[in-house]
Amino acid sequence: MLADATAAATPHALARALPEGFVLGTATAAAQIEGATTAGDRTSSVWDRFAAEPDRIIDGSDTSRTADHYHRFAEDIGLMRELGADAYRFSFSWTRVQPGGSGGLSREGADFYDRLLDRLHSAGIRPFATISHWDLPVEYPQGWLDRDTAQRLGDLAGLLGERFGDRIDSWITINEPATVTLNGYALGLHAPGHSLLFDALPTVHHQLLGHGLAVQALRAAGVPGRIGITNTHSPVIPASDSPEDHAMAALFDLVHNRIYADPVLLGRYPEAPDFLGDALAAFDEVPSEDLAQIHQPLDFYGLNYYMPTLVAAGAGEGESPDGTSAAMADLPFRLLAFEGVPTTGFGWPIQPAGFARALTEMQERYGDVLPPVYITENGASFPDEVGPDGTVDDTERVAFLRDHLAAALAAVAPGGPAEGLDLRGWFVWSLMDNWEWAAGFTQRFGLVHVDFTTGERTPKSSFRWLQQLIAARAEAR
Ligand code: BGC
Repeated sequence: MLADATAAATPHALARALPEGFVLGTATAAAQIEGATTAGDRTSSVWDRFAAEPDRIIDGSDTSRTADHYHRFAEDIGLMRELGADAYRFSFSWTRVQPGGSGGLSREGADFYDRLLDRLHSAGIRPFATISHWDLPVEYPQGWLDRDTAQRLGDLAGLLGERFGDRIDSWITINEPATVTLNGYALGLHAPGHSLLFDALPTVHHQLLGHGLAVQALRAAGVPGRIGITNTHSPVIPASDSPEDHAMAALFDLVHNRIYADPVLLGRYPEAPDFLGDALAAFDEVPSEDLAQIHQPLDFYGLNYYMPTLVAAGAGEGESPDGTSAAMADLPFRLLAFEGVPTTGFGWPIQPAGFARALTEMQERYGDVLPPVYITENGASFPDEVGPDGTVDDTERVAFLRDHLAAALAAVAPGGPAEGLDLRGWFVWSLMDNWEWAAGFTQRFGLVHVDFTTGERTPKSSFRWLQQLIAARAEAR
């Protein structure tokens, strides 16, 4: 079990612990906030289609309106400015910028991102752009099961690089391929909704290849911005000391963490344990040219951290609270709940020590070759409501953010367990409440509350907390 420190850091103490030049920002993704799915010549994404299928989204909601950011982006950038944030991580909606997933950029789609980028620049906010955050065009028949989709991502990166390269500070090729493979292709919980279990593994390689091709296309377009990828990392804890639990924890670590980070950072897939038989054999046969494409020099590595994972051997439903358990029942391991650990609205364990562990594992595994790291997402959902006085007092989120940032800074500080890891920034997920994929509007992750009927924005206490931290940093300089 991981032990969490208890002392709460004040904004001033945290501000003093921030390394020079540390970036404080917020993050979003197009499908979760933009809405306006029929504006201009935008076409359907796999998430538009998935949400239209029966029983896929918990509250039956869809992508058509979400937070209506397409129409309210100026107001949202105004909020970022009020916050004092240094940077904003957003994603391009693939089917808005390239309707149908082929050909050149859409004039109307590209115009929207021109307006967004220009306004961010006038507000003094550095744009971090994700090219692919889960919303593939429906025209790619098998999605990431097709190798050709990798080439499509490379082509899109080239087009975006040429058009927006002068205004983007940092590029993220792809967001969390692990979640796409696991939830989208192995368990059927996310778009495109396949339940292929281990047969989903080709999507790992194709996404990573897409990343490598995108890096090369951006470099060929001569973008001055820095280029990286975003992966999630969940430290995996065995449920007991038994060899069986240890073996299954190692397996989950392999398929959730290492299989994505190793090829990108080390240029090879991890070796599969013998007991897996030939379940990962396809990776032994990957041509070395593919690995060379994937193993591109990167300017930074984006890491998303939400929670650690507790794994026990043996098939069955487990206790994962967010719908994954039933879908995983046929696998040889189960995810268990951490006893006595508080949880978020999603039921995810709140463990800042897990964040320190994630950074420590990154440093231990990849230290020599790990580029500077940005935490490209960290945050939590809670059932926030606007109170009678018109405010949203999300004290649990304030504590979550404060304790996680403190744990990460302590981990990388001199003498910390992840000392040597060059941590450059932290992006809160999320700027505002949004459409939380298969959980629809039931999980609020925002610093800003959104009324999904009226679109009204209300900054929460956590927004004020981050604002104070940013102000305290300015005073400390
Ligand atoms: C994703 C976000 C998502 C968040 C919370 C991350 O896996 O990148 O899009 O909203 O987790 O579930």
